Amino acid sequence: MKALVLAGGKGTRLRPLTHTSAKQLVPIANKPVLYYGLDAIRDAGITSVGIIVGDTAREIREAVGDGSRFGLEVTYIPQEEPLGLAHCVLIAREFLADEPFVMYLGDNFLVDGITDLVDAFHETGYDAQILLTKVAEPQFYGVAELGPDGEIIGLEEKPEHPRSDLAIVGVYTFSPAIHEAVRAIRPSARGELEITDAIKWLIGNGRRVHSHFVNGYWKDTGRLQDMLECNRIVLEGIERAVRGTVDGLSEITGRVVIEEGAIIENSVIRGPAVVGADTKINGSYVGPYTSIGGDCVLENAEVEYSIILGESAIRGVSGLTYSLIGRNVEVTRAVGVPNMNQLMVGDHSKIQVRA
Ligand code: TTP
Repeated sequence: MKALVLAGGKGTRLRPLTHTSAKQLVPIANKPVLYYGLDAIRDAGITSVGIIVGDTAREIREAVGDGSRFGLEVTYIPQEEPLGLAHCVLIAREFLADEPFVMYLGDNFLVDGITDLVDAFHETGYDAQILLTKVAEPQFYGVAELGPDGEIIGLEEKPEHPRSDLAIVGVYTFSPAIHEAVRAIRPSARGELEITDAIKWLIGNGRRVHSHFVNGYWKDTGRLQDMLECNRIVLEGIERAVRGTVDGLSEITGRVVIEEGAIIENSVIRGPAVVGADTKINGSYVGPYTSIGGDCVLENAEVEYSIILGESAIRGVSGLTYSLIGRNVEVTRAVGVPNMNQLMVGDHSKIQVRA
């Protein structure tokens, strides 16, 4: 069995971060979301992985390399434009050959991995398995309708009146029958070759398409609130490890990881939280559910429930919460302008300041 990982796309919902980097590389507890998926694929016993790459091909290649670090053999498959999930299968035809495969959307995050799904595929030999989970607001997802034996009888993309509360999770298994399906379908109204249409084609042509339920937590990390929630879930499970230097005036409480070379002075860190390698924190407060990347500086700062990527500096700023701060960002106090905010912010940024 092979794996096809989708790491192209536009990532419009995570702009401006995705102007300069791939959304699949935004870190959760200081580890890119894509790495969790690659680990899950390896843990399910798969070694041959094709990665679909788009505009951010360079960053993805730099981050993943030949895959050996994950115990994988990676082949990159460039996609000229994000023309849909089924288009990814179409262009991966040569790589996939006539083997069954797992298709994994590179921005999806599953705490309990995909081993159950892959094992079920080997046992049953269905032509497609769709991973499902119950959600509160199915109208925002692809939604599946099941028959009495768990077989899929209907699929709808973001329906106004959903027929169930079962959302489609971004991991699928397919037999080689899917290749005929992706060739047979036409682009949807939004101009994409939809995987749901290809699966409907399989059902219409008498193929066996079945559902499989997610055991643990799942999120599509396409939006800020989802990234922050995934970060919280992963941080809930970390073990305390202090490898950096902490001075006697600092207080480190609970499950906190401080990486090598980090220096904490005169500060309070309340876990769960992670501080990346060579980051310097001085006179600051870091609250629960915060991930701070490597080579950052926090001076007289207060931050909680946030993700800060590497090489950023926060100086003299308090009350930062629910924030996603990119790489090489500076957040500082405006001097000489009381009660004013001074901003130089990139395109598509979102800033919420105290009223
Ligand atoms: P989406 O989240 O559906 O699309 P997107 O990445 O363009 O994001 P946004 O909606 O914020 O603009 O894509 C799911 C995953 O599949 C994601 O990792 C990107 C990838 N993808 C491709 O590689 N090629 C494609 O043609 C599409 C549509 C998505």
